[in-house]
This record gives sequence, C-alpha cells and structure tokens, in this order.
Amino acid sequence: MASPLLLLQSLLFLSLPWFFISSATSSNPIPQPYVVYMGSSSNGDREDVEATELPHLQLLSSISSRQKNQKVSLLHHYNHAFRGFSAMLTESEASKLSGHEKVLSVFPDPLLQLHTTRSWDFLEVGSSDQARSQNHHPSNDVIIGVIDTGIWPESPSFGDEGVNEVPARWKGTCMEASDFKKANCNRKLIGARYYGIRSSNSNGTGTESTKASGSPRDSVGHGTHTASTAGGALVANASYYGLAKGTAKGGLPSTRIATYKTCTEEGCSGSLILKAIDDAIRDGVDIISISIGSSSTFQADYLHDPIAIGAFHAEQMGVLVVCSGGNDGPDAYTVVNTAPWIFTAAASSIDREFQSAVVLGSGRIFKGSAINFSNLTDSKKYPLVYAKNAAANFTPADEARNCIPGSIDWTKVAGKIVVCVDTDPMGSRKIKKLVVEDAKAKGMILIGENQVGDPLDSGVFPFTQVDNVAGYKILKYISSAKYPTATILKATAVSGQRPAPTVALFSSRGPGELTENILKPDIMAPGIAILAADIPKKDPGSVPFGEEPSKFSIKSGTSMSCPHVSGAAAIIKSVHRTWSSSMIKSALMTTATFVNNEGKPLMNSSRSLANPHEIGVGEISPYRALHPGLVFETTRKDYLKFLCYLGYSQKNINSMAGSEFHCPKNSSEELISDINYPSISIGSLNRHGLARAVTRTVTNVGPANSTYVASVDGPMGLIVEVSPSKIDFRPNARRVSYNVSFQGKEAPGGYNFGSLTWSDGAHSVRTVFAVNVE
Ligand SMILES: *[C@@H]1O[C@H](CO)[C@@H](O)[C@H](O)[C@H]1NC(C)=O
Ligand SMILES: *[C@@H]1O[C@H](CO)[C@@H](O)[C@H](O)[C@H]1NC(C)=O
Ligand SMILES: *[C@@H]1O[C@H](CO)[C@@H](O)[C@H](O)[C@H]1NC(C)=O
Ligand SMILES: *[C@@H]1O[C@H](CO)[C@@H](O)[C@H](O)[C@H]1NC(C)=O
Ligand SMILES: *[C@@H]1O[C@H](CO)[C@@H](O)[C@H](O)[C@H]1NC(C)=O
Ligand SMILES: *[C@@H]1O[C@H](CO)[C@@H](O)[C@H](O)[C@H]1NC(C)=O
Ligand SMILES: *[C@@H]1O[C@H](CO)[C@@H](O)[C@H](O)[C@H]1NC(C)=O
Repeated sequence: MASPLLLLQSLLFLSLPWFFISSATSSNPIPQPYVVYMGSSSNGDREDVEATELPHLQLLSSISSRQKNQKVSLLHHYNHAFRGFSAMLTESEASKLSGHEKVLSVFPDPLLQLHTTRSWDFLEVGSSDQARSQNHHPSNDVIIGVIDTGIWPESPSFGDEGVNEVPARWKGTCMEASDFKKANCNRKLIGARYYGIRSSNSNGTGTESTKASGSPRDSVGHGTHTASTAGGALVANASYYGLAKGTAKGGLPSTRIATYKTCTEEGCSGSLILKAIDDAIRDGVDIISISIGSSSTFQADYLHDPIAIGAFHAEQMGVLVVCSGGNDGPDAYTVVNTAPWIFTAAASSIDREFQSAVVLGSGRIFKGSAINFSNLTDSKKYPLVYAKNAAANFTPADEARNCIPGSIDWTKVAGKIVVCVDTDPMGSRKIKKLVVEDAKAKGMILIGENQVGDPLDSGVFPFTQVDNVAGYKILKYISSAKYPTATILKATAVSGQRPAPTVALFSSRGPGELTENILKPDIMAPGIAILAADIPKKDPGSVPFGEEPSKFSIKSGTSMSCPHVSGAAAIIKSVHRTWSSSMIKSALMTTATFVNNEGKPLMNSSRSLANPHEIGVGEISPYRALHPGLVFETTRKDYLKFLCYLGYSQKNINSMAGSEFHCPKNSSEELISDINYPSISIGSLNRHGLARAVTRTVTNVGPANSTYVASVDGPMGLIVEVSPSKIDFRPNARRVSYNVSFQGKEAPGGYNFGSLTWSDGAHSVRTVFAVNVE
C-alpha cells in the first residue's frame, strides 16, 4: 500500500465527470456530453457527410421531446471504422437512446488522464549486430498516429532530413491554425489534427462548451515527448541542460508521425479520443500510440470505454493499438487498457540514474537521487535543519517533518537546507519542495523510498532524495552536531546501473479487473527518467541561469513506456510489412527479455523477483523480435469469442462484428483462457478438480521445415503438460495447435507463474503463464 496518495489523486481526478453525472438527475434536464456507440461501420468508409449524419439526427429526434428551438447539439460523428456520435443529452434522452435497437452503449463522455536517447540504446544492448544490420531495410514507411496533447513541430526530433517522400497511401491532413501552418508538417511529421477540447471551466450549469482549442500545437509537452520517443528523428547532442547527453531518437528514425490532439493539461475527453481513432484509421496509420487511460478505480467495461471501443475497430482494420497501463502501482488490479486487442505497456527503469549528492559538514557524502540544477558548490556549507524542529506554532510535529503546507516556521528555515520525510501520503514531493522553497530555504533533502529510482525534477532549486538508511544517518548527524551544515551537489547522470531494468514502482499491476483470464500488462518498456523532445518551458525556476529553455526534458510514466512499444512495433512492421497487428504483438512478446543486465531474472523496485502481473512477459527486445520463429495469431474470431465469453449479448456482438457471428453455445468466462493469446492466464484453477487444458495455435514464420521442442519452467507443485511436446513444421503445415494442461493438486495457493518455451535451436518462443490455484 505505498500509493494511497496516487489512489487519492485518481479518485479526486475522476470525481469530476462523475459529479456531473450524479448531479444530472432526471429532474435536472441539463444536457451533458455523452458518447453513443452504434457498432461497426458496415457500409465501410463514407465520405458523404450528410449521409452519415442524417441517421444520427433522425435517431435523436425519434427519442427527443425537445422543442424546435432547443435542438440537441451533436458534437462529433464517428463513421469511418465504426458508427456513433457524441452529443449533449439529458439523462432521460441518454436512457431512451440506450434502449434503442441500433445502439450498443451510451455513456457520459469520460475525462481520461494523461498517464530517450539512452533508453533505446539500452534496449539494443544484447542484440546481435547481425540483427541490427537487418534493420537497415528499404521499407521505411511505417506511420504511427499519436493521440495526445499535440506536437511542437519545431523540435529537431521532427526534422525530416533524409526521410523519403510521404507514402502515397497517406490520406491524412495537416490542419492549420494561427500558430500552426501547413509548412509545420513535413516528411517526418506527416499529419496533424486537433479536436474541440471540452472546456474545463464548466460550472455545472450546462453551458459546458466544446470550443476548438484551435491548434495541433502542444502547449503541455506530453504529446511532443511521446511522439519523439515513438518515432523521433536522430538528434545528436540532445540533453536536458547538459544532463543525459546523447543522441535522441525514436525506435526507427524513418518512422512517420501523425499527431491527433485530444488532450489538454486537465485530461482527454473520451469522445475526442474515439473521433481521433476513427480519423487515424481512415488516414492510414499503421500503429496508434495512446499514453492515456481512465483511473484504475472506476474501470468501465469494454463497451463503455472509448479506448477499448476505438481500439477494437482499429484492430479489425489492421491497425495495432498500443496503450499505457497506468501509473497506479504497485497495488494489484490497477492496470487499465486491458482489452486483449490492446497492447498494454508497463514501465521499467533503464540503467541510468540521476544522482545528486549531499555533503555534510562532517565531510560525509550520501548519494541522493534528483535532477537539480542548483548552483550550490562543495566549498560552501549551509545550516542544516530537520523540518520537525522548525514546526510552526500549534503544528503537529508529524506534519512539520513531512513539510505539509503551512506546517513550517519560515523564520527557522530561511537560508538553510531543510530535511523532510515522506511518511505522510498527503503531500507529493513537488508540494513539499514548493513548501520548502517558498520558505526561502537554500535547499531540501527528502528522506523516503516511495518513488525510488524516479528522480524529481526540481529545476534550479537544490534538492535531493535519499533512502532511509542515509536519512537515518543524516538525522543522527543533525541531532549530534552543534552546528549541523550541508550542501547539495548538482545532479549527474550515471549510466551502467545494475540491476536494470527493474519495474517502476508506479507502474500499474495486474491482474486485470475486468477479467483475470488474459494476462495484463503485456510487456514492459523504459518509462523512468526518459529524455525526449519537449516544448521549451520558460517557467521561472525551471531554466538554469544563463541557459536557453531546453528542447528536451526528462519524464517518467507508463506514458513514456507506451511509445517505446509503439516504436518497437514500427521496427517489426517496417521489416514485416504484411504481418497483422497480433503477429507483431506476438513477436515482441515471445522474444521479450526476462533477465536484467546482471543476467538474473527481472526484479521489482524492492529487489524481489518481479512477476508477470508487474512486467507482463518481460522487457521489449525489438531487434530480437524481428525473427520470432513462431507467432500466435489472435484472430477477429478470437476477439469476438472473447466478447461472447464475457457475456455480451449476441445482438451487440453482431453489431460490433458488422456481420453475423454465432457465439459458442456454452460461452463462459473461463473459456477466455483459450483465445489464441501470446500468454496464458487462468484466473481460477480448482486444486481438487481435473486438470485444466488450454489450446494454442502457432504459425511458423521462420524456415519452413523446422522442428520445435517444448520445455516448461514452472513452479514446484504445479503440473504442466504440453501435448504434443514436439512439433514438426512443413511447408504445408505452417499452423499447428497444441494443448497445455495445468494440474494444481500439490501447488501453492494463489498465483503460480512460469513459462513454456518452444525452441528449434535457433529461435526461443517463450509464453508466460499465470495460474491462480484455489
Ligand atoms: C457559468 O458559465 C456560463 C458561461 O461561461 C456563465 O454565463 C454563467 O454565468 C456561469 N454561472 C456561474 C454560476 O458561474
Ligand atoms: C556535440 O558535442 C560535442 C562536444 O560537446 C561537439 O564536439 C560536437 O561537434 C557536437 N555535435 C553536434 C552535431 O553538435
Ligand atoms: C544561486 O542562484 C540564485 C538565483 O537563482 C542567487 O540568488 C544566488 O546568489 C546564487 N548562489 C550562489 C552561491 O551563486
Ligand atoms: C516486489 O515483489 C515482492 C514479492 O512478490 C513483493 O512482496 C513486493 O511488495 C514487491 N514490491 C513492490 C514495490 O511491488
Ligand atoms: C453445454 O453444456 C451443457 C450442460 O452444461 C451440456 O449438456 C452440453 O452438452 C454443452 N454443449 C456443448 C456444445 O458443449
Ligand atoms: C522441406 O521438406 C520437404 C519434405 O518434407 C522437402 O520436400 C522440401 O524440399 C523441404 N524444404 C526445404 C526448404 O528444406
Ligand atoms: C487438445 O484438447 C482437446 C480437448 O481436450 C482435444 O480435442 C484436442 O484433440 C487436443 N489437441 C491436441 C493437439 O492435443
């Protein structure tokens, strides 16, 4: 339970739209934005705007009893890959619509949250030069659509030097605005769209506007960062004020980027994300990268989740959707974006740390973690004070030592270096730092391990965070020295850290809340302290004296790991142009690495063995994934069966499929384990029952005549049998099925994890399993 604060924040965050809903009782006829989802676009793409919008208007007028002068305001139409619209509706209108035969779901438009030089270099370590040279492939027209806060096109990461002409199949556009011209798009940044952003200053009187924010230009930085990680150009000498210097690049420098701006600082409206996915599919993107998600506390089912709906139809159209799994870890059941047709990313550390040392008056030096551009030096020390001893009048000592706002007597800390602890979850590091900075202190030492490995960017304010052992010694020094003093040295980046990667503490954990029979998250990628392009920020205190605002910044989150996976998928797609999205996903999953740079199994941030609910199948290894040997193809039929097994109605499933699909007779949730996924999860295995067998089908994409043999790495007590355990592939037998059975009589209770690896001597095809023995 190290994240009650995060949990609280997400609660507060989501309370906004829910508050609107609950306030709009049927006696309160104030229209609110709703999404109306109507299933697959059976007639395919329609250019005729009137023809697509008319049925929506007719549908609305059939249920609305409004007067002529009170027309329902339709906000967006979805009509390329799927049908539906968003509109301002009263609760009773929404309720009438949801009973309509043409409608699958109606839900209040949710507000979702925005959830690298060195990082890519780190991932390449261990891949053979041969694999890397095969990367220099002429086909380089992979297009990644990034749904986010827009883009800062002037960033050197979006330069198009050496990039070929825009692919002829591209149907997207570069929308203009007062601060964004057609010329801001180029052969690298080939598309830019923006959408009306729901005004965040709605006062609940129903006048909430959806005025266009006016430009694809990024004013937050998040979208610029994610886009440059997924597909940024090579930029030599990129750094954050000299820190983390290196060559910035996306996974594949020749990847094209199209940006779809749906978010502001406050978040992203679900109805706009749906519109952006619909547009991106029509524009011709190959991969969609979405570093956005709902809170883990209120997870909507798949038919009421705009990302799940949009991603389903994207998958049907051959577009891979990669999403962040969320930053609500380390508690279980926090992972979001868990539909099987979504590729879900967890976040890991890389082998780089940002260190900023504390030097005490006694001469002792402690290693701390921070990104700081303080101008303090080793030669001058400042008085050192424990915040608990500087409490304001009538303030509990526990609040003061946690540096809670209002708890500190300014006169006792001005000009000094203040030591705070991190035991009260009510204040974030940023808030504590502001409290101490406001009090005119010289610097701050935070004792705490809650965000270990995730350095706080404190700008020019001298800050560092030390672990509990160092903290104990610093406090002991304060209590024993007559005039305790210290200084905080400027941060340096230290590469080659071991062990790495490790799971980020904040990375959301499985199992999935909606079903435990699909293993989530899927895979892990770098998400701690990632250097990538940003908008140049000029906020006071963030730019070191005498410097220009940086064009790069260092950010952490599954928001940063998601575009690494998107970029890795682009590498695979550029070489294997005809592979489906599930083949690409499978290739990345079965070749992921499960050992760290010490050659030991991956660990979590408390140095324990990391399990698949933390890391999925392991860390992406993009170049190894170019030659996976075998792949699992998850078909349209698999996804439709998944919906059957979860209990969605036959009518809704037909509508999503856009054609007749007959659910298997005895659909039940446990059959979800049988869909042809590149990992196996069994949410409940009765130890007294029979063995549970699941079936998988592999497709040979390696040499036509190959023989693969299975080996199992399983926990003691769980009996795992593979049948057959040897497979001969032949030119006329590329697809072969096998069964894996699990017997838990002697197994420990709870989740048992292990893996099954098919090997032909040249390829290792590893599938991870998670079996909950009850
Ligand atoms: C709510 O916002 C609308 C439009 O912005 C404004 O006209 C109205 O006065 C506001 N109401 C309150 C109570 O602030
Ligand atoms: C990168 O920086 C180094 C030294 O800081 C310099 O020698 C080199 O010319 C720079 N390269 C570019 C492309 O700016
Ligand atoms: C550090 O910078 C601040 C302004 O950012 C300045 O007021 C202060 O004098 C500087 N301290 C030293 C030791 O240079
Ligand atoms: C790391 O894994 C161990 C063993 O599963 C677990 O007890 C611990 O809570 C985990 N630590 C974090 C930070 O998740
Ligand atoms: C479905 O289940 C029922 C009883 O649970 C069984 O009698 C029937 O044979 C099953 N049908 C199929 C197709 O498996
Ligand atoms: C694969 O094996 C078949 C016989 O099973 C043989 O006819 C064929 O030439 C072999 N192909 C290759 C590429 O080795
Ligand atoms: C897998 O198990 C199913 C049901 O138990 C059986 O019908 C099928 O023949 C088995 N397949 C293989 C490849 O063993």
